[in-house]
Amino acid sequence: MNDGPSRIGVVGCGLMGAGIAEICARAGLDVLVAVSGPSSVDRARRRVADSLSRLADKGKIDREEADAAARRIRITSALEDFADREFVFESVTENETTKAEVFTALDGVLRDSDAILATNTSSLPIVRLAKATRRPERVIGTHFFNPVPVLPLVEVTASLLTSEETLHTTEALLTGPLGKQVIRSRDRAGFIVNALLVPYLLSAVRMVESGHATAEEIDTGMTLGCAHPIGPLRLIDLIGVDTLTQVASGLYEEYRDPVYSVPPLLARMADGGLLGRKSGQGFYAYPS
Ligand SMILES: NC(=O)c1ccc[n+]([C@@H]2O[C@H](COP(=O)([O-])OP(=O)(O)OC[C@H]3O[C@@H](n4cnc5c(N)ncnc54)[C@H](O)[C@@H]3O)[C@@H](O)[C@H]2O)c1
Repeated sequence: MNDGPSRIGVVGCGLMGAGIAEICARAGLDVLVAVSGPSSVDRARRRVADSLSRLADKGKIDREEADAAARRIRITSALEDFADREFVFESVTENETTKAEVFTALDGVLRDSDAILATNTSSLPIVRLAKATRRPERVIGTHFFNPVPVLPLVEVTASLLTSEETLHTTEALLTGPLGKQVIRSRDRAGFIVNALLVPYLLSAVRMVESGHATAEEIDTGMTLGCAHPIGPLRLIDLIGVDTLTQVASGLYEEYRDPVYSVPPLLARMADGGLLGRKSGQGFYAYPS
């Protein structure tokens, strides 16, 4: 019997937070999700319920399992409700101030001084979020991949202040009940995967921007010519233009290497709300 944490908190119910809540609930864990305000509660509830129901419709899980998982997820807009949580995944917008505020608030709310705070950040130093709390040894990076229920990898990042016990408990939760595969990364912006992936995605945007090739041509080239399951522009639409812009800015701040600088086209798309799938329009159109 698993004796790791069973009362899980997830802060943020966007693309990633909803996926993390879903896999935790399907693993039989008790899940409480925090959203940014009362007006987001219903949307979050629908989001997780619809995703589970789609899995049942496709026959990937049976209907009872989907219903049982949905019942294990509660949604709140009050972080104070997290007092009894043993392990919290933070997955709010990729913004250091927002995340640090969440960490400080959680640190004040969690009753169990051993409770672990894990961030899904793609680019921010874990140690800086750790320093926003009075339990830096209990703060760790757990970087999931999108879509969370489908992709098996999680990059786990201990900061210079993370304890061995936190690392062990976190990896046991991820590889045990959550069924993920982990790789360990140093506390460097972009960890392993994004440090490699982001320059590639930005290069594809630069090719579109300079008129070198169209989004369709580039995506066809990389899927049919290199056997990538998805082309770079479609992948940006899936990740979110806003998220990629924030992540690339974080990488640029860390390394000051032009390969991470945000192309003007991407920045203007983020400014204009052309965010990809989540807004219905990015490099491609997604009619609802
Ligand atoms: N999109 C990806 O492919 C991907 C992959 C790996 C990691 N990440 C990381 O996951 C995190 C979330 O990204 P996402 O793609 O889910 O973004 P998203 O924009 O879909 O969701 C972020 C959510 O956080 C909410 N939020 C903001 N402040 C909040 C607060 N104080 N309390 C509760 N909720 C709050 C927003 O309302 C929004 O619903 C980011 O750190 C991102 O870098 C994203």
